[in-house]
Amino acid sequence: MIIAIDGTLASGKGTIARQLSAEYGLPYMDTGQLYRLTGLIALAAEVDFDDAQALADIAESLNFQGYTDDELRTAEVGQAASKVAAVPEVRAALLNLQRRFALQPGGAVLDGRDIGTVICPEADVKLWIDASVEARALRRWKELVSKGETLTLDEMISQLKERDERDKSRKDAPMVAAADAVLIDTTHLSIDAAVDKARAVVEAALAKKPTPSGD
Ligand code: C5P
Repeated sequence: MIIAIDGTLASGKGTIARQLSAEYGLPYMDTGQLYRLTGLIALAAEVDFDDAQALADIAESLNFQGYTDDELRTAEVGQAASKVAAVPEVRAALLNLQRRFALQPGGAVLDGRDIGTVICPEADVKLWIDASVEARALRRWKELVSKGETLTLDEMISQLKERDERDKSRKDAPMVAAADAVLIDTTHLSIDAAVDKARAVVEAALAKKPTPSGD
């Protein structure tokens, strides 16, 4: 079974994806990490963000060894990720890796912005996770401040709006809910309640899926 989870920044999609991956024993890919690492390496090497080929070369040969999750989740790297993600050559360089992961025997859980629309339109379950800008900014701000970042909540809100806008308006694979995705708004939901809703969608899809023996 392939579960595609898309949605906005800090909507809770990563938490839901990890939980479903554990419960159903499916391998999990956080596809945002691919764009984050591409952005981080480009920043460190001072690559020009208009140099599509140089950025695609980085994306083509990603190796996560030596990078920590904390380094990848800073606000600066998030901004860089959304810039490199708007470059079609970068998206093309990362497409096959994601598709192979999705199509592995037994299935997988992937989260991102274009999983249900571009990477795996044939996914068995498509979820679109969203929440109000204020709720999302507050969540991500608390996370970043607890790790020592010094930005204000207002700065977080404007960064988030800027990233949403860039992700939505890019020409290639813009952030948009697939027509057949089920929407979960987590603004007023606890993590457990959001996971419960997601699990119910998966269970409904499993109930409809033919068994391997054809019964
Ligand atoms: O989800 P996360 O915040 O880690 O993603 C970082 C950035 O990577 C997003 O703002 C988006 O621009 C990009 N991204 C994307 N397609 C995906 C996953 C992430 O364009 N499938």
